[in-house]
Amino acid sequence: VAQLLTYNGQVAIVTGAGGGLGRAYALMFGSRGAKVVVNDLGGDTKGQGQSSRAADKVVEEIRQAGGIAVANYDSVEDGDKIVQTALDNFGRVDILVNNAGILRDKSFPRTSDTDWDLVQRVHLRGSFMVTRAAFPVMKKQKFGRIIMTASTSGIFGNFGQANYSAAKLGLLGLSNTVSIEGQKYNIHCNTIAPVSGTRMTEGILPPDLFDEFKPEFVAPLVLWLCHEDCEDTGGLFLTAGGWYGKFRWECTNGVMCRKSREEMVTPEVVRDHWDMITDFSHSYNPESGQEATAHLVGALQEMDSAGDTSSENTSASVPP
Ligand code: NAI
Repeated sequence: VAQLLTYNGQVAIVTGAGGGLGRAYALMFGSRGAKVVVNDLGGDTKGQGQSSRAADKVVEEIRQAGGIAVANYDSVEDGDKIVQTALDNFGRVDILVNNAGILRDKSFPRTSDTDWDLVQRVHLRGSFMVTRAAFPVMKKQKFGRIIMTASTSGIFGNFGQANYSAAKLGLLGLSNTVSIEGQKYNIHCNTIAPVSGTRMTEGILPPDLFDEFKPEFVAPLVLWLCHEDCEDTGGLFLTAGGWYGKFRWECTNGVMCRKSREEMVTPEVVRDHWDMITDFSHSYNPESGQEATAHLVGALQEMDSAGDTSSENTSASVPP
């Protein structure tokens, strides 16, 4: 039997933990020894209203089950206050799950300034504010595990969710860089794109999927990614209903449309090579900006040497 994953002595902040997915994370962390800061503003799905009840209820549930937890009712926009609650009560921050979120769906041209701004503020700015407050604490500890919450709406787009899609994929960009800057301090940052039956998806997910995609199935992925034994960072994971998978980037091999450094490229040349430019039967999976850039530099070098010898032709240069 594999050893149980525990979080004894560690402190986990879960934002928006008063219900839905965040509640499931908080309960599971609490049941495995972590001291949990249950943050929730307690508003409605659109970000209106405020109440301490949501967070208090989950804190009570964790305590009833023998765990340790405190509530925090600040908005994620006041990230430093949430981190301060962790420090005041427990003296550390090991784990941060950025989960709080709202929806203000409208078809794109009907999206108001407020619909746009509120969604960016809670998801993107909120995750930034809490993470920026937690990062120096984790850096000093030389340990940290951070989760950003994206969405398939960000990855693929979704009708009526321009504001939400932009924020959700923005979080992936944030995670990508936080993971790079955190690496030398053993601070890992990963992004999840969950699908789950919560108040946010009520009436959106078909009823059978709503019941099947329980938040309790997303929590095990979050817990593993936040464990000290997990070495992954900078990843993007998709999960629902007990299924887990990882996303990565794929780029076609592409085509160098110049034959020499002197040559410029016209739109017609791009059009005429469109099949090769978009041909995924020859592709690669860059894992870093350096790797992607190296591919481009390689194409330049191949162009140069093809120009020199006019012999070799590779997939990255234009056929004669
Ligand atoms: P939920 O509405 O049950 O949970 C969100 C929680 O965040 C609520 O308890 C809410 O009070 C809290 N919250 C909202 N604004 C806040 C603020 N400014 N500060 C602190 N807390 C705040 O919805 P759910 O489904 O559990 O969502 C959790 C996260 O997962 C969200 O980021 C959501 O966008 C994301 N997500 C959910 C999916 C799903 O299928 N349920 C799909 C993809 C992403």
